[in-house]
Amino acid sequence: MHVVVIGTGFVGVVTAAVFASFGNQVTGLDIDPQKITKLSQGEVPFHEPQLTEMLQAQLGQGNLHFTTEYAEAIPAAEVIMVAVGTPSAPDGNADLTYVHKACESLAPYLQPGAIVCIKSTVPPGSFTEISKKMKALTDTPFVLASLPEFLREGSAVNDTLHPDRLVIGCTDPTAIETLKQLHEPFQAPLVVVRPESAQMGKYSANAYLAQRITFINQIADLCEENGADVEEVTHVIGYDKRIGNHYWYPGLGYGGSCFPKDVKELAAYSRSVGQGYNLFNKIDELNENRIFIKMKEYEQLVGGWEGKRVAVLGLSFKPHTDDLRVAPSTKVIPHLLHEGAQVLAYDPLAIPAFQQWLGQPEGLEYASSVAAACTEADVILLLIEWPELIEYPYGDLPDRTNGQPRWMIDTRNQLDPQQFTSEMWQYKSTGRTYDRER
Ligand code: UDX
Repeated sequence: MHVVVIGTGFVGVVTAAVFASFGNQVTGLDIDPQKITKLSQGEVPFHEPQLTEMLQAQLGQGNLHFTTEYAEAIPAAEVIMVAVGTPSAPDGNADLTYVHKACESLAPYLQPGAIVCIKSTVPPGSFTEISKKMKALTDTPFVLASLPEFLREGSAVNDTLHPDRLVIGCTDPTAIETLKQLHEPFQAPLVVVRPESAQMGKYSANAYLAQRITFINQIADLCEENGADVEEVTHVIGYDKRIGNHYWYPGLGYGGSCFPKDVKELAAYSRSVGQGYNLFNKIDELNENRIFIKMKEYEQLVGGWEGKRVAVLGLSFKPHTDDLRVAPSTKVIPHLLHEGAQVLAYDPLAIPAFQQWLGQPEGLEYASSVAAACTEADVILLLIEWPELIEYPYGDLPDRTNGQPRWMIDTRNQLDPQQFTSEMWQYKSTGRTYDRER
């Protein structure tokens, strides 16, 4: 099948490479010529495991091409997937400028019966306006469908190849058959629903997962008051099949390019339809404030940040990516610097991205290894569960020269507390009893 994917961010490049790997003729289209040049040469402009290999293989086999030209790509396309960004506007609503621009740019070149699938996350009801704008630019009949995307960064290729389900939001029977055929190689459950349900489904999935994280964070905070251990609590509740054991680790709140944005958008959408008094606004508020509340708590524990040497481990928002979007580091480090701490930051991958974002303010140094960050540190703040960071033998670090214990703040409960039983360590987790029992 001839497929065009518009937008070459995470979702776009992964989608293009995966559909090409199934033997389709795929064109990736982006208005950014630099990105297109890089991609055409087999270079992925961001970090995502397995993607470069897959991209290069498909370029080599001639299944995948890249262009900046709508006039070149669209006329042959049976299926067009719009995967451009939908940043949040300042009021929290999704800004659909790029989706509208892409749909208006492609409209004049459509072949009859072409299916335009919106992969970008858009609020339910958006198709009315998109369709109206496109119809003003073409008399060619086309079908609009919603194909929401559920991949996670850092495991995007694997998630796309092995999805839990594929959602086709469409009401046109011929288009549904074509889309079913296109998605057959995934051998995953196909859920065919109306577009609004697909759009609402995407927001619901992300908001549900975000509230699950918010929920366990609040339970963890309560555990700290009463001697319970949140890891044991999740064990207790996880056996209930309605609840489950997965996706339950507490921390400083959820980050990334999707949850914060999608929860805000669902909250803004609720307000726009007069239902602002609801859960989504609250989840967003709790998540926004969480890091600062926890940082205050840590400040009291360590006796103030002023003059402290603090190793901050993990700058990206999750392991296996250099994406800093709503990463805890982007709030924690400026806060520490503002409070007068000396920060030694380390990340296996994201230092260049962080340097580009924040530069080299006074008080901040980038370390070349975990050891370099931690050896002289008074406090170690472990923010992200990169394997290199959680596997490091912290217990082997030399003691602080002033004879005082060093703090390990394990914000995501990723370390074995037994490493920190010596008098030269103080260990703080999120919602575990260890700290109290020592
Ligand atoms: C998420 C969804 O999982 C994916 O389906 C959707 O398409 C895009 O958004 P992603 O943002 O890549 O994917 O990362 P994910 O691994 O889900 O983590 C999101 C955030 O939640 C991270 O900040 C992570 O640290 C946090 N998280 C996740 C927790 O705090 N606890 C958990 O148990 C799981």
